[in-house]
Amino acid sequence: MADELKGILGHLPPLPRPALNNSVIGMEQAYRQRKGLPLLSDADIEALKAGQPMPWEEGGSGVTSSSAPAPPAPVAAPPAATATPPPAGATAASTALSPDVAKWVAEGKKWSKSAIAAEQARRGRKGLPALTNAEVTALLGEPAEAAATPAVAATSAAKAPAAAARPAVASSAVSTGSSVARSGESTTYVGTPAVGTSKAAAAGGVASVGPENSDVNQSRRRFAWAAVAAFLTAWFLAFFRFFLPRTLFEPATSFKIGYPADYGLGVDTKWQQKYRIWVDRTPDRIFVIYARCTHLGCTPDWKPSENKFKCPCHGSGYDSEGVNFEGPAPRPMDRANIQIAPDGQILVDVSRLYQWPKGQPSQFNDDGAYLPA
Ligand code: FES
Repeated sequence: MADELKGILGHLPPLPRPALNNSVIGMEQAYRQRKGLPLLSDADIEALKAGQPMPWEEGGSGVTSSSAPAPPAPVAAPPAATATPPPAGATAASTALSPDVAKWVAEGKKWSKSAIAAEQARRGRKGLPALTNAEVTALLGEPAEAAATPAVAATSAAKAPAAAARPAVASSAVSTGSSVARSGESTTYVGTPAVGTSKAAAAGGVASVGPENSDVNQSRRRFAWAAVAAFLTAWFLAFFRFFLPRTLFEPATSFKIGYPADYGLGVDTKWQQKYRIWVDRTPDRIFVIYARCTHLGCTPDWKPSENKFKCPCHGSGYDSEGVNFEGPAPRPMDRANIQIAPDGQILVDVSRLYQWPKGQPSQFNDDGAYLPA
């Protein structure tokens, strides 16, 4: 049995054969191990590396054409008449079938690829020879390919009569080229390729899967990718915005409000909206009132007709100098630091306030609380 199986080429290229490297030979050994086929011997490997026929091949060092081992399923060089398409499912190729396979084919039952793969696995476990490509083709019920194999074999035999001694598998693998490779693939591949591998599958000779690569589908893919990119961009922007500080840009606490001569006697409210201050001028001084009610912090209104400030929140009243005289306010309104800048303008600093707490000394006469008029 081993001698018969030895004649199986497997995936090796036919003669004349170029020198093979270790990688190719290693893949062939792995293939043979998976299929339960006899491994290449050292002599075979040396011959393959040298690009010479293996000892058991025609022209090899181990056998001569007269002593070539009998192939496991010899392909008898069919007469020209047998190369014509067979009349029925039981084809001329059945002559290359093992008895078991011939029996199954004769029963007329078509095998699925998965069933063939299971049979191959069983044979591998049992140490039996794997189904040949011709047998697989016959079991699949594909008479056209089954008939093509002997036809090509016949042609090969006609060109080189000695090649008729080749094993059936080798002859098939040699003569049918890529079609046999696809057939062999069908015996090992079970299941559906992963979606998205159509290019790789096509490159590997396997039929591509997935949607058709039409213009419409390409447009859909571009739209889908654009939507995904937009979503991710928005998400990353929101993500990084999360780390930015929530800053309140408050107005400066120190600022200039013009020259002393710009202000007449009385209360000037022109800076109320911008700086929350009133500029108050009396006959002897200029000072700045910070416009914040000392009760709960509301901004009082200046009532020129009544010559007083009136808080709209709880009714506290302040005279024209910001001193409380009615309502819940506990003390006069605070005054801001005021001084003359180098350029002669009034410089106000509301971060430094002067108070007159109830029952305590007033800070309104401190330096910086007013400017002499
Ligand atoms: S806040 Fe001004 S009286 Fe209450």
